[in-house]
Amino acid sequence: MRIFVTGATGFVGREVVRHLQQAGHDVFALCRNPDDLYVSGVQKVRGDILEPHSFEPQLREAEACVHCIGILRAFPDKGVTFEKMHYQATLNLVRACGKVGVQRYIHISANGVEKNPTTEYMRSKAKSEQAVRSSSLDWTILRPSVVYGGNPNRENFVKMLQDNLSKAPIFPYFGKGEYRLAPVSTWELAETVRRCLENKETVGKAIHVGGEEVYTYKALLRLLCEAGKFKTSLFSLPPVLMSTAAGLLGGFKWFPLTNDMLKMLMAGNDIPPNALTQKTLEVPSVSFRGWLQHGLIEPAGAPALTETAEPRVTTQLQPDDAPAVNTTKPLSPDDAP
Ligand SMILES: NC(=O)c1ccc[n+]([C@@H]2O[C@H](COP(=O)([O-])OP(=O)(O)OC[C@H]3O[C@@H](n4cnc5c(N)ncnc54)[C@H](OP(=O)(O)O)[C@@H]3O)[C@@H](O)[C@H]2O)c1
Repeated sequence: MRIFVTGATGFVGREVVRHLQQAGHDVFALCRNPDDLYVSGVQKVRGDILEPHSFEPQLREAEACVHCIGILRAFPDKGVTFEKMHYQATLNLVRACGKVGVQRYIHISANGVEKNPTTEYMRSKAKSEQAVRSSSLDWTILRPSVVYGGNPNRENFVKMLQDNLSKAPIFPYFGKGEYRLAPVSTWELAETVRRCLENKETVGKAIHVGGEEVYTYKALLRLLCEAGKFKTSLFSLPPVLMSTAAGLLGGFKWFPLTNDMLKMLMAGNDIPPNALTQKTLEVPSVSFRGWLQHGLIEPAGAPALTETAEPRVTTQLQPDDAPAVNTTKPLSPDDAP
């Protein structure tokens, strides 16, 4: 299949590009700077999502589109806003797909968007999902939890924690640190994208993508220290103090958290119990602990990434909000495997 992927130089997008290319698809990779994409065998498309004329000719060549552009922090002084980078970018792409006749569309959203959004990040993600749902495209929305293991050259949450834990003698968690996270590998996310593209039953569905191992924030920090052999002492910081600091300093790139990021972290990021998940598509699991300790980013016994070796998925999908089996196993801080 000929697939147009946006955000191709990003943490998630690069892995989606590599995965689809290795699976035998022809990938058109949208990049602002093609020199930043070190993946061979793909057609690099120089363009900007905010200027649709820059990529429409190559989009026209594609049969499907995967949208991996997004930001975690806004920098309004530099014109980088959630409204622009989430909503406007999505609207541009959805309209461009409609215009040039690309009917199949996969949208990378975020876990938690289904709740009542309390942050600009989530509000703009919800608005973007609405733009996708209102279109006449054959869409599938994917809602990942915290993603790990992707493009090592890009910032991401787990890397940010590892970097800070490796340097700091003490490191805070906020309140009791019991909010839960379901870190999911870029392999699982990219494989979910691939299976969705090949399975028409995923059209019109929102699928949550979370890791099988669920950790509290405190347990996750302990695990990162253990795996990296960091001697860092963890301590509880009252959320109000962190919130004040984030309010004052969150506008600076060097400060690790904004107030919105703190809110989202403390709201938890595990998969809702009745959500439709990648498990419905029988995507094999990757162990977060295994990745940390042994660098294993592909699941043991994963099928070879070729079109012919892959068994066809025939699972009957349930409607968007219908209950599905949730296979996540919560781990408390002290009984993490
Ligand atoms: N990472 C996570 O843990 C996580 C979790 C849940 C959901 N998500 C979602 O996954 C998606 C990808 O996130 P990510 O972590 O991969 O982000 P990322 O590493 O920051 O990548 C963003 C990508 O968007 C591109 N981009 C930015 N502005 C652009 C523009 N004007 N025109 C064209 N391309 C532009 C960037 O290109 P440059 O290289 O030129 O900057 C980069 O390739 C987002 O929708 C995010 O909300 C991520």
